[in-house]
Amino acid sequence: MFLVEIEKIVQGGFGLGRIEGKVIFIPYTIPGETVRVEKTIPKKDYELAHTYKILRPSPNRIPPLCPYFPLCGGCQFQHMAYDTERAIKEEMFKETLRRMTGISGVTVNLVHSSPMAYRNRVRFHSRKGHLGFKTAKATRVVPIDRCIVCVEEVNRFLEDIRNERVQMGSRGEVTVFGYGGNYFWKEGIREVTVELLGKQVSFPIESFFQSNVTLLEHLIRSHILPLQASRILELYGGVGTFGVFLTEHCSHYTMVEEYPLSVEYARKNLGGRGVKVVQARVERWIPQAGSFDTVVLDPPRNGLSAPVREFLKRKAPRKILYISCNPVTFARDLKSFLSEGYKFDSITLYDFYPRTTHLEVVCQLERR
Ligand SMILES: C[S@@+](CC[C@H](N)C(=O)[O-])C[C@H]1O[C@@H](n2cnc3c(N)ncnc32)[C@H](O)[C@@H]1O
Repeated sequence: MFLVEIEKIVQGGFGLGRIEGKVIFIPYTIPGETVRVEKTIPKKDYELAHTYKILRPSPNRIPPLCPYFPLCGGCQFQHMAYDTERAIKEEMFKETLRRMTGISGVTVNLVHSSPMAYRNRVRFHSRKGHLGFKTAKATRVVPIDRCIVCVEEVNRFLEDIRNERVQMGSRGEVTVFGYGGNYFWKEGIREVTVELLGKQVSFPIESFFQSNVTLLEHLIRSHILPLQASRILELYGGVGTFGVFLTEHCSHYTMVEEYPLSVEYARKNLGGRGVKVVQARVERWIPQAGSFDTVVLDPPRNGLSAPVREFLKRKAPRKILYISCNPVTFARDLKSFLSEGYKFDSITLYDFYPRTTHLEVVCQLERR
């Protein structure tokens, strides 16, 4: 048995403490808490708490509002006040930046909206016909009746499945998008049209679309609308969500996206003179790229591949707007841009996924 004080929260949402100098990770804790650890799982460089009790809880600890927490692996931060979660996320991000790039003292702003009923897009897993989320270790599905972070339309979908008003079939997982009074899914209405700052964007349920429409509008207003450029290249453009706005602010716009269905919708959403939508894997397309003064990037979690980083070094656009859903790969890519002489004023974090460890990062870089 050991007494451990939680020093900070690290990637994955674990509290970090020490036992005789050796790092121990304890889930669902808060910095400053004292924890009695009874049993640990030894790993190569650290211990993982298996059985433990919070002896001195943080004043920022709250009773979880969700009855499925922490068995359901969807959320990691339901046990703390939301302002504590935001402070922790900001600190986790700054630490990642320090560790990966060596830079500190950066201005970081965190933008948030409600931590409840915010999530439009979600993937459920099925267990014996009942829908739910996987456990943290992804070993089984926790069936749920309601999810408090999902919008009401998504919860209506769960209710309709439960009451057999709609049939899911034998499918193991299902993606649902709740918006504007309806829910959208593969066996029902498959095409979604979302209004963003007065403009309509359509997409099929199979395509990627951001999960938090409220904050997406905020991001577009603050970072996409102010972009003034002549020739814009957007890589990983999806269904053209940002393109709908970017095309209005430049004379030439090229977007590259690999998923054919998203490209089909991007062509419908964008259109117009001086607009080119290319269906290709970015890595395969770059040898034929022209010149651009501004590049907008929104890659998947693994960030930019080495050939794409090399391509950007060679092309040296004046401005790069980098939107990332992974602070670790963002920091790696930022380091590469900084070594090429790019500068930035600040970094904005969008809390697209309250109660989870995930964050959206936005940074505008310029050659000055
Ligand atoms: C994070 S999403 C961003 C989409 C879009 N910016 C949005 O906000 O809706 C990443 C997109 O990149 C596409 N993608 C992933 N890897 C790619 C690659 N190597 N080349 C081209 N597109 C890729 C995915 O299909 C997905 O649409």
